[in-house]
Amino acid sequence: MRTPSTLFAPLLSWFARARRDLPWREAPRDPYRVWLSEVMLQQTRVDVVVPYYLRFLRRFPTLASLAQAGEDEVLALWSGLGYYARGRNLHRAARAAAAAGGLPRTAAALRELPGFGPYTAAAVASLAFGEQVPLVDGNVARVLARVLRLRGDAGEARERAWRIAPGLLPRGRAGEFNEALMELGATVCTPRTPRCGECPLSPGCGAHRQGEPEAFPGRTRAKARPLLIWAAPALLRRDGAVLLRRRGDGELFAGLWDLPSAEVCGDDAAAAARAALDACGVFGQPHLEPCGEVRQVLTHRDLRVLLFRARARRAAAPAGLRWALPADLASVGLSSLARKCLRAAGVVIPG
Ligand code: ADE
Repeated sequence: MRTPSTLFAPLLSWFARARRDLPWREAPRDPYRVWLSEVMLQQTRVDVVVPYYLRFLRRFPTLASLAQAGEDEVLALWSGLGYYARGRNLHRAARAAAAAGGLPRTAAALRELPGFGPYTAAAVASLAFGEQVPLVDGNVARVLARVLRLRGDAGEARERAWRIAPGLLPRGRAGEFNEALMELGATVCTPRTPRCGECPLSPGCGAHRQGEPEAFPGRTRAKARPLLIWAAPALLRRDGAVLLRRRGDGELFAGLWDLPSAEVCGDDAAAAARAALDACGVFGQPHLEPCGEVRQVLTHRDLRVLLFRARARRAAAPAGLRWALPADLASVGLSSLARKCLRAAGVVIPG
């Protein structure tokens, strides 16, 4: 009788042969680098992450250097990577860990830091510190769902995978095993058209035997995303500088700089754009000229931003706002959406 752990026995030798050379895999593994890569890789593909990871490390090569940084600079380096709460939490956790003398070495202790959920804590503990703990991300859940024919949609397969994973870990090699499972899910056991011919687990894989690997995990019914409409005025100074507001805690894109914006509730977008300026302390109602729209699909919402341009009457920035010249925008923490909006409003961002 093949037990689940014997089904996974070919994995480690496959990983030794097939693992990609990625910058965060250089030996000896530095816990700070492992952590940074794992945070960046959440929801984001390897090819997108690599340049961000290298740039971030050039500026913040150690936990101590990140702990000393200001949040603005951290977010500027995160700009374009999305899911900015990751960057803010990374920075907060770096401060807490540096003050305590370094990153804790167990998943349980890592969980106490901001941004460390069960996955990130287990990834850092097992990959960097050799703790014998399992982990499950989307890739691991899919591999287990297929090999073991786990019932249910992706969410249910993930829950089952967390229950099963502790029993699969080869003694003393949890880190390698965890990373090998993730690698297999990322490169071979892909969501669509998996390469079963190249898979070390296909001889024992339930979904492969059944002839329909893609049927696992089962489909999740897509939920409709509510549509959010914003009006955003680009207030432009004579020298080309644009007025930016820092988004507040609890707002979407909190901590990042953006055009002022307000939700459009009825059909008067210009009134909403004016209200956005009023709320920032820009009174005197400049003439607002519509200049296009930008759309963005977020995880839980569809966003439509209606853009306006206006000439600034006064050069001073109201409290909590700043003027940014186009040449300075490369070093400001902006979301990809804010960049698109600035471009739509005619602001040329270098780089
Ligand atoms: N996805 C997230 N972390 C990973 C890792 N360490 N190896 C492969 N894929 C990953």
